[in-house]
Amino acid sequence: QTSEVKEKFRPKLHFTPERNWINDPNGMFFLNGEYHLFYQHNPYGDKWGHMSWGHVVSTDLIKWNHLPVAMEEENGVMIFSGSAVVDRKNSSGFGTDAQPALVAIYTSYDGKTGFQHQSIAYSNDKGKTFTKYEGNPVINISSKDFRDPKVFWYEPEQKWIMALALSAEKKILFYSSKNLKDWNSMSEFGPKGAIGGVWECPDLFTLNYKATTKWVLAVSLGNGSIAGGSGSQYFIGEFDGKNFVPDQSVSEKIEGFNYFDYGKDFYAAVTWNGAPEEKGTKTWLGWMNNWQYANEIPTHGWRGSMSLPRKLILDKEDGDYFIRQEPVQSVKRYRKSKTILENESITSINKKIEDLDLKELTFEMDYKFKPNKIKDFLEFEIVNNDKSLFQLTFNKDTNEFVLNRFDNELKTEFQSTQKITLLNNADKYVNVRLFADKNSVEVFINNGRYVFTNLIFPKDFNTKIYFRSIDDSMSKMKSITTSKY
Ligand code: FRU
Repeated sequence: QTSEVKEKFRPKLHFTPERNWINDPNGMFFLNGEYHLFYQHNPYGDKWGHMSWGHVVSTDLIKWNHLPVAMEEENGVMIFSGSAVVDRKNSSGFGTDAQPALVAIYTSYDGKTGFQHQSIAYSNDKGKTFTKYEGNPVINISSKDFRDPKVFWYEPEQKWIMALALSAEKKILFYSSKNLKDWNSMSEFGPKGAIGGVWECPDLFTLNYKATTKWVLAVSLGNGSIAGGSGSQYFIGEFDGKNFVPDQSVSEKIEGFNYFDYGKDFYAAVTWNGAPEEKGTKTWLGWMNNWQYANEIPTHGWRGSMSLPRKLILDKEDGDYFIRQEPVQSVKRYRKSKTILENESITSINKKIEDLDLKELTFEMDYKFKPNKIKDFLEFEIVNNDKSLFQLTFNKDTNEFVLNRFDNELKTEFQSTQKITLLNNADKYVNVRLFADKNSVEVFINNGRYVFTNLIFPKDFNTKIYFRSIDDSMSKMKSITTSKY
């Protein structure tokens, strides 16, 4: 393939590096109208290694401006995942009251000894360059599995709080500090919930449901997650500045766990520090990949991408809280055209979809149906070069969505069947919002109550997209809106 053709497989809406490897999002902060995103990056190759922090900036979370690598591996000590805060009160003394410093808190990983310590570095040029603190590391417990500090300002006690993972023990530890340099251990949480793999990249934040504020602890799970391999789970509860205590949620009672995403490719997500948020929501994104095959996905010159940035919204049903995710609003600005169909049969929808020419896979589909207007099942399928890549099927009998992802040329772990069961009855509308962007499909069901994030790898631009049921002429959708990007 020529480089021009290879570039044609680069997502339009999703962040990708200009070249080489990326994994986790890191150090996200908002300042003066700009969203900053750092990311785990190998500046020297397209596989994991020489971990450093790459840096990009955006005003709308979709169009990213690439900046030079902000922190590089030095003397074999890698810069692992972590967070960044604007030190507005100059608690660290690294800035001034008028010009607060940006302080990054990250895991320094010594490739020779294997130890993982927590270190800090400050920037007086909005994250372009960093100076490492001479007193590093700031936390050293002589552990080889101790990483991913997420720091935030806790207003009630005017202190910084850090959540980080004691990964192999499946514990989240909480520390506090007045100056970002001296840290005191406060409490620990876990093992609890899903513990089939190491715990990584925690985040502790609030979300509001009406007048109620709840605390959410997000924990990434290195292996054994719902779709196999890596994934992310959450706990909802209370935090008093010292201890996190989870409530018992319904899905925990039923399944034992709460997952943010039921697909294979959503990992290491953390929230933006200091971003303007509406009504007690938060903004975040995750690395769109899975450690089972991340080093081998077939992209060219660059490897890895982020999910669409999403709003996290707290919701409640039958007395229980849960979290919804919705893509950020600004994505809509990139729509090039929009087609709305109402009350049409699947047969007629398929004809019109064909005319829309979606073969380059950069579109959004929002569809809504009542299960009792569908015969047996409703399936959405993406076929490339006569091979099925993706199927999302709603089964009327079981109220289940089943998602299949195929690619016989990739590792067996890439083949996947995923499932969720709706609590809806047949007379209630089901809505699906689906984003395809060259090599991924993100599905948001019932306003983001269930999310499936998955990579797909079309071989060429010979792609077909259609719906199917047992009888296409008898099955109807209430509405379907297709937007091209
Ligand atoms: C998660 C992770 C983190 C670590 C980083 C290293 O994907 O394993 O725990 O800090 O990646 O690149």
